[in-house]
Amino acid sequence: MKKDNLYNKDIPNNHKFIFDNDVTNVFEDMVHRSVPGYEFLIDNIGYIAKKFYQPNSNIYDLGCSLGACSISVSEKIEDLTGTIFAIDSSESMIKACGNNINNKNIEFIRSDILDTDIINSSVIILNLTLQFISIDKRTELLREFFRKINNKGVIILTEKIINNKKNDDDFSKSFHDFYKQNKGYSQEEIDRKKIALKNTMKIESEKQHEERFMEIGCNSFYKWFQCYNFVSWVLVK
Ligand SMILES: C[S@@+](CC[C@H](N)C(=O)[O-])C[C@H]1O[C@@H](n2cnc3c(N)ncnc32)[C@H](O)[C@@H]1O
Repeated sequence: MKKDNLYNKDIPNNHKFIFDNDVTNVFEDMVHRSVPGYEFLIDNIGYIAKKFYQPNSNIYDLGCSLGACSISVSEKIEDLTGTIFAIDSSESMIKACGNNINNKNIEFIRSDILDTDIINSSVIILNLTLQFISIDKRTELLREFFRKINNKGVIILTEKIINNKKNDDDFSKSFHDFYKQNKGYSQEEIDRKKIALKNTMKIESEKQHEERFMEIGCNSFYKWFQCYNFVSWVLVK
């Protein structure tokens, strides 16, 4: 695993975080050292998928990056009879998946999730992806996924969140910084990455997400994970 040193040096004022070749090369190390509970999330997304998977249906891993969720799901569901469509808009991510993963159950596709059609699916996974979609497109996108997913199917959604109560937000942000420091990032690296992400990743509150779930017609949603400012829900149709 190549070490993430991307923000070890000064960045130009106009620098923006994108999922290019440089990020792809260090992504595994970056995500493990930046997202508290990442391994737990990946493992349990596999189990949730197994619980709700319907025979002969497909699974969509949207914003798959290096395919961690797809691999977890394919390892947990022994009798998978459909296809796992692992989709990402980043050319370098999809290329890396193609070079590193050889799994007959997973089909890697380079595409924008805004252009993705959901066909006969019981499980749709958005693990840390919706936060990179422009806020004004999120409701319609989720509505469409929820409309297309099979009855009793699920959307598994993980997001970094902002807390509307300032004290709680300060607490979770400072713990998240502390977590990253303990994983070997300097405060300078942490701050540079925050600046780089500012215009790329737009986070919302738990309340905003849950209001959106109700707006798209989902009344059965469950928060199954929270670690500091990272939350994951299961939305059941
Ligand atoms: C934080 S990563 C997701 C991590 C991954 N799901 C995992 O579990 O390891 C976000 C991913 O979403 C992808 N992405 C962002 N916007 C996208 C879009 N509009 N369509 C498809 N993929 C997108 C990025 O290229 C990136 O690989």
